[in-house]
Parts: sequence; C-alpha cells; structure tokens
Amino acid sequence: NFWCTSGLHRLNLDNLSHLSHGIEVKVMNKDKLCLYANLTLSFSVTYEVADNKNKTVSFELPSSASSDDSKCDNTSSILKLSFPDGHSWSVNFSLKDKSYQAENITFVYNLNDSKVFPDSSSNETVTVTTKPDITDVGVNTCYSCKSEDTLIASPLANMTLSDVLIQAFILNGTKITTCSADKPVTPTPTPTHVTNATTVVPATNATTAVPPTTPTPTLPTPTVGNYSFKHDVNSTACLLANFGLRIGFTQNKEVNFDPPTEVSGSCGVDSSELILMSNGINVSLSFYNDTKKFRLHAVNVTLNTSSGIDYPGANLSLWEAAVGSSYMCNKEQNFTITDLLSIYTFSLHVQPFGVKNGLYSTAHECSLDDPSILIPIIVGAALAGLILIVVIAYVIGRRKTHVGYQTL
Ligand SMILES: *[C@@H]1O[C@H](CO)[C@@H](O)[C@H](O)[C@H]1NC(C)=O
Ligand SMILES: *[C@@H]1O[C@H](CO)[C@@H](O)[C@H](O)[C@H]1NC(C)=O
Ligand SMILES: *[C@@H]1O[C@H](CO)[C@@H](O)[C@H](O)[C@H]1NC(C)=O
Ligand SMILES: *[C@@H]1O[C@H](CO)[C@@H](O)[C@H](O)[C@H]1NC(C)=O
Ligand SMILES: *[C@@H]1O[C@H](CO)[C@@H](O)[C@H](O)[C@H]1NC(C)=O
Ligand SMILES: *[C@@H]1O[C@H](CO)[C@@H](O)[C@H](O)[C@H]1NC(C)=O
Ligand SMILES: *[C@@H]1O[C@H](CO)[C@@H](O)[C@H](O)[C@H]1NC(C)=O
Ligand SMILES: *[C@@H]1O[C@H](CO)[C@@H](O)[C@H](O)[C@H]1NC(C)=O
Repeated sequence: NFWCTSGLHRLNLDNLSHLSHGIEVKVMNKDKLCLYANLTLSFSVTYEVADNKNKTVSFELPSSASSDDSKCDNTSSILKLSFPDGHSWSVNFSLKDKSYQAENITFVYNLNDSKVFPDSSSNETVTVTTKPDITDVGVNTCYSCKSEDTLIASPLANMTLSDVLIQAFILNGTKITTCSADKPVTPTPTPTHVTNATTVVPATNATTAVPPTTPTPTLPTPTVGNYSFKHDVNSTACLLANFGLRIGFTQNKEVNFDPPTEVSGSCGVDSSELILMSNGINVSLSFYNDTKKFRLHAVNVTLNTSSGIDYPGANLSLWEAAVGSSYMCNKEQNFTITDLLSIYTFSLHVQPFGVKNGLYSTAHECSLDDPSILIPIIVGAALAGLILIVVIAYVIGRRKTHVGYQTL
C-alpha cells in the first residue's frame, strides 16, 4: 500500500478533465519496489534542415517508452526512459543524509530519426543535460508537482514536465512533498463542489475559470567553477578564474553553464584567453592588458551543433582592474554582450595576467562601485579635504605671523 500510487489516484480524480498521456514507471530492486514515477513529459527541439534553416518540433514522451534501464541501489537511482529510435530521457537521483535530490536530467535525441525530425540535415545523436529543481526531498517522501515546469537544457532543446509524482528511494514511505509552483501564492477561491449530479457543467467551468498558474521557470544558482590555466604541467597557473555562469540566448532562453573539469586557453603579455566546454556549449573569454589595466574584451559562445551556431561579442570593457591585481564580484551581475547574448555571473573572481605562485593578487571589488559603500568613501574624502584645508590655513596663518614677527 504505497502512498505515491494512492496519491496519484487522488490527483487523477481531481483532474478528470486533464487529458494527459502520463507514463507510470515502477522499478524493482530484488522484488521490492525501489523507484516510482508517474509523469507527463513533452519535448521541444530545434534542429537544422537544408539551407541553414531551422525547424522546431514538439513531441510527447511515447507511452511505449521502456524503463528497463532504470535501476536503484542504496544511495543512487536512475530513472531512464528509452524510446525508439535511439532517444532517451533519464534522471539521476542521489540520497544523502536522509534526503534525496535529482542530480541531473539527460535528454538524448537522435536527429537521424526522420519520423521525429523530418528533413534533418544532421544525423547526430545529441545529448543535453540540465539540473531540475528537485532537491531536499526527505527519504520516504513522494515528490509531487502538478504544475508545468519547462526545463531548458540547451537553447535548442527544452522539456516540459507536469503531473509529476516521483519517489526515488522507497523504504517505507508515507509522506508527500509538493513543489513550490504548486503552492498557491494568493489563497485561490475554492470552487464549491456541489455534489448534485445535475451541476456537472458549472463545476467544469468553475475549474477552467481558475487562472492558469504559469510559473516562470526560475533556474537554480549555477554551480561555481574553479578554473586555472597553466602553460604546462610543471608551471604554476598563469590565469585564474572562479565563477558561476548563466548564459542568456536571445529572449528568455537561459541556461546554467555546468563547470567543466578541463579548461584550455592561453596566457600572453597583452592578451589571455580562457576556454570552457560543457554540455555542447563552448565559452571563450578573452582578456586584454592595456599596460595599466586589464579587461574582458571579448566573449564568444558557440553551440556545438553540426553547424556550430556562434554568438560572438567583442569590444567590451568589462571586469576592469589594474594589471597585477584581480577582479572580484560576489553579487550576481548581468552583462548584455550583444542583442543575442547576455551572461550572468555569480561569485566572480578572475585574474588573467600577472598571477604569482598560482595565487590571486589583491582584488579590485566591484562592490566598491556600490553607492552604499561609495557614500562612506565620499564622506571620508570630504573629511580628509577639510582637515587638509585646516592644516593649510594653519600653516599659512603661522607663516603670516612669522612674517609679521620678522617685519617687526
Ligand atoms: C521551448 O522551446 C519552444 C520551441 O523552441 C519555444 O517555443 C518555447 O518558448 C520554449 N520554452 C521556453 C520556456 O523557453
Ligand atoms: C552521417 O552523415 C555524414 C555526412 O553528413 C555521413 O558521412 C555519415 O556516413 C552519416 N552517418 C550515418 C550513420 O548515417
Ligand atoms: C459556464 O459555461 C457556459 C457555457 O459553457 C457559459 O454560458 C457560462 O457563462 C459559464 N459560466 C461561468 C461562470 O463562466
Ligand atoms: C615536469 O617535471 C618532471 C620532473 O621534474 C619532468 O620529468 C617532466 O619532463 C616535466 N614536464 C614538462 C612538460 O616540462
Ligand atoms: C568564436 O568561436 C568559434 C569557435 O571557437 C570560432 O570559429 C569563431 O571564429 C569565434 N568568433 C569570434 C568572433 O571570435
Ligand atoms: C571594434 O572596434 C574596432 C575599432 O574601434 C572596430 O573597427 C570594430 O568594427 C569593432 N567591432 C565590433 C564588433 O564592434
Ligand atoms: C540585470 O541586472 C539589473 C540590476 O543589476 C536588473 O535590474 C535587471 O533586471 C537585470 N536583467 C536581467 C535580464 O535579469
Ligand atoms: C601588460 O602589458 C605590458 C605592455 O604590453 C607589459 O609590459 C606587461 O608585462 C604586461 N603585464 C603582464 C602582467 O603581462
């Protein structure tokens, strides 16, 4: 008698009008139910057709999807749904300290499948990854989210989840947790359910009259990556950078950049470059040393598709600091690079030139530009100026009296 399942029946009764093609998955570990999922999933993918044109298709997870590759053990479990021809969708869960979370969602799609992607000019299999906002779910707890949640795994692929019920670790569960999108912001007027059979029609427009909750997909804060680039294994780093990065493509398409483990780049006298590659997104940051100051002067984001869509941005003057120091900004910052590209940084610290012993030099902090910090500085400067004036007046005064004595 498993709660997640009975919860589902209750939700379905609430939702009779909702014609969704959900899928139900039960994963067993040694004859014991260890993972349960019931969800509705649809995909939207943009791909390239002839003449450099793009086409976008939307499709639902077929109900024939197989969950044979799903598995669970004591601390990790995988929900994997494979469907023809060569597509799959999977979620990795991990259990730590009596609560579990979804580590990432991986969507693999095969552009060679002409039934799903007609006229595709590529035959590649594309893998995209994103991190869903399913965290801190207590063990023995079923995660429930009726609201639609669109996850943007890449600028070219997103997926929409709804009517989700998942329990990734099943010991002896009875609890349920709901996602924040399901929690009413304002007390919703509860439609009075009249049990009279003749009132079926008003009851249905009462439910459709409820304004649809359209949760704006808020991405979690991106993971901060620690990067250092060195010329060869035996030298110390010549470029240091730490930041979490979110990339905004055109309007409203934002992805969190997962820190890669390997970096490449170059360090020169007047220019340095940091190149990062993760989940099919290439990011290159070019820095320029104008003898006194350095700055970020070009950002180039490239999507690793067959055609390699490019988002270059040059002639920038960002992250400026004196050569020999580092630039630091802990607060979230956003930068519009071009009409098509913007970047958001979190806990930023970089030093592209003059790194000594592999360590950051004194930091120039962006918060100094903050008016709340500027005011004490201005007040301090004004006070110092006042003192100077008093001292000068005193000196002049003394010289005057001195002169006075001399003329006596
Ligand atoms: C998902 O992709 C489709 C097609 O590319 C697009 O119309 C839709 O706006 C995207 N959704 C979000 C939330 O970006
Ligand atoms: C994929 O396409 C490339 C060229 O577009 C071709 O050389 C290759 O043989 C194709 N591979 C398959 C498996 O169809
Ligand atoms: C309910 O729907 C009917 C027709 O379907 C319509 O005439 C009526 O105005 C609706 N009532 C409300 C409260 O929206
Ligand atoms: C790094 O140092 C080791 C031992 O000192 C040496 O064997 C190796 O050749 C060096 N590698 C490079 C790239 O200089
Ligand atoms: C951006 O990077 C891509 C791939 O690394 C390269 O082909 C392209 O020329 C670069 N664009 C600019 C403006 O640097
Ligand atoms: C960058 O500046 C140079 C010279 O100021 C100019 O020739 C070039 O067109 C600019 N590039 C862009 C992308 O604005
Ligand atoms: C960028 O940041 C500013 C304030 O720092 C904020 O007002 C603005 O809404 C942000 N833009 C986006 C697209 O988040
Ligand atoms: C910055 O550029 C100047 C002039 O090109 C050069 O003399 C100096 O060494 C450079 N500084 C660093 C730290 O590379």
